[in-house]
This record gives sequence, C-alpha cells and structure tokens, in this order.
Amino acid sequence: MAWKKVAEKDAVAPGKGREFVVDGKRIAVFNQDGFHALDSVCVHQDGSLAPGKLDGDIVECPLHFWHYNIKTGELLDYIKGVKLQTYSVEVKKDGIYLDV
Ligand code: FES
Repeated sequence: MAWKKVAEKDAVAPGKGREFVVDGKRIAVFNQDGFHALDSVCVHQDGSLAPGKLDGDIVECPLHFWHYNIKTGELLDYIKGVKLQTYSVEVKKDGIYLDV
C-alpha cells in the first residue's frame, strides 16, 4: 500500500461520491461524515457505486439498488459475507490521498 493523491481537496462535494481510477482500480470516494473510500464496482453487475444515493453510512447501487456500507465495504443484501475492499483516505491541504 502507498499513499497517492487522487484529486484536489474539494473534488468530492459533501453528501456525494465520486469515482477515481487508481492503478487501474475503480475506487469510489464518499464525502459523508468524513471521507470514505472503497472499491466502486458492485458485485452484482459491475454498477458504479460512486453516484449511488447515500443514506447515512449506506450507499445504494444506482442500477438495481443493492446496498453497501461505505465504511466497511459490506454488502447488506442477498449474499452474506461479501465485502468490498476499503481504503484509508486522508485529506490534506493540497488534495485527497488514498492508501492504495
Ligand atoms: S449492478 Fe449494483 S445492484 Fe445490480
């Protein structure tokens, strides 16, 4: 793992998510109760979670509405034990950094 700058610090609006591709990986960064990052690709049919609707810690996949916890990566519907990879996020003066 190594820290990488992915965006300027205001690139993700409060209450929203945005997808970044880092080393070929699609990662969603959410600005909701702090910053959280996890793999952006839904395990159902590869929908991007980044534009999903947020309700507290839960994001809803825009394609078929499966739900994930943005802090733990855990899938909350249908399949037990599925967890998307999560990443540490740090927001510094010059940008948003991910430990990828
Ligand atoms: S692709 Fe996410 S719920 Fe179907």
